[in-house]
Amino acid sequence: MKAWLLKDFGLDNLALGETAKPEPKAGELLVKVGAVSLNFRDKAIVDGFYEPHLVPKSLIPVSDASGTVVAVGEGVHRFKVGERVNSHLYSRWIDGEPGPDEPAHCFGMPLPGGLAEYMIIHQDSAVRAPDNMSDEEASTLPIAALTAWFSLVDYGQVQAGQTVLVQGTGGVSIFAVQLATALGARVIVTSSNDANLEAVKRLGAGAGINYRTNPRWEEQVLELTDGKGVDLLLDVAGGEGLNQSILATKAAGKIAQIGFLTGQTTTLNLMPLIFRQTTIRGIAVAPRSAFDRMNAFLNKHEIRPVIDQIYSFEDARKAFEHLARGAFGKVVIKVS
Ligand SMILES: NC(=O)c1ccc[n+]([C@@H]2O[C@H](COP(=O)([O-])OP(=O)(O)OC[C@H]3O[C@@H](n4cnc5c(N)ncnc54)[C@H](OP(=O)(O)O)[C@@H]3O)[C@@H](O)[C@H]2O)c1
Repeated sequence: MKAWLLKDFGLDNLALGETAKPEPKAGELLVKVGAVSLNFRDKAIVDGFYEPHLVPKSLIPVSDASGTVVAVGEGVHRFKVGERVNSHLYSRWIDGEPGPDEPAHCFGMPLPGGLAEYMIIHQDSAVRAPDNMSDEEASTLPIAALTAWFSLVDYGQVQAGQTVLVQGTGGVSIFAVQLATALGARVIVTSSNDANLEAVKRLGAGAGINYRTNPRWEEQVLELTDGKGVDLLLDVAGGEGLNQSILATKAAGKIAQIGFLTGQTTTLNLMPLIFRQTTIRGIAVAPRSAFDRMNAFLNKHEIRPVIDQIYSFEDARKAFEHLARGAFGKVVIKVS
């Protein structure tokens, strides 16, 4: 089959080639990939700063895929040939608390990803793709939408009338705006781009702050919340900015630590954390059960993914370059 193979770190080492078409073993589905979407994780893996010691050489990259079941292994009962499915990043985390080694079973690294004509998904981790979405749309859900959902609903338990802060206008954040708005929350968004701040208001955000022109953005958040801070903050930026996130969150409020766009380490100022009694939880997407619940909610609220651009399979490298420049919502690659 045709597949993009990462033979070494760096986008220059991502090449279109041929590799053996996989055979489904017991319990597995062979999926003809319709589309994949890119996440920052995929770019970080290609660039060699996401757990580089775990990256096989070579690797079929990109975790998030949507496609059609074309063959099944022995004992498969959850899906039939012809049905449309989504991959689920943490392929063994089905429900409840995560196990100790979930990252060892993730698509797109170390397991082969979806940037190929076919991929294997175990029936237990596959999720029915929403009927009302194309493969391109459904491919955006496994990480970006589900991380926003788990942060807002399972962890954040956001209630109507509460205030949520969302950082940036990338994949996770745009879904967070859409989902939090549908939950009845008031959403504040930070972005480096004023045009994007206007665009998120059309998706339901109530206020926007440009974090480039307002580097002390947490002060503006306090002004917008009567000096209290937000109930829940989705931190995708990481780095030293976590200290600002604590100041922007209300006393006994919650931070979902999702990302590390500005750095994988931070020097934490403990006194504000202690005095404000903030809860910070690391987020690693979600179990499959949350994916099923999220899809029902997306359907009920008629939420459609925001796709910035769709690239052809041959133009996969251009899609990675687009993600690196910054995208409003998701960058998708149509595979077949
Ligand atoms: N832990 C998890 O389960 C999980 C799941 C998904 C993603 N993540 C992580 O979350 C982060 C975002 O992922 P993504 O896929 O949504 O990325 P993405 O689509 O590439 O979005 C990146 C966006 O973040 C914004 N940004 C960059 N620096 C910022 C800063 N200092 N403050 C506020 N916003 C900033 C920019 O928005 P503007 O252009 O509007 O400024 C940029 O477009 C990454 O670190 C990713 O690895 C983690």
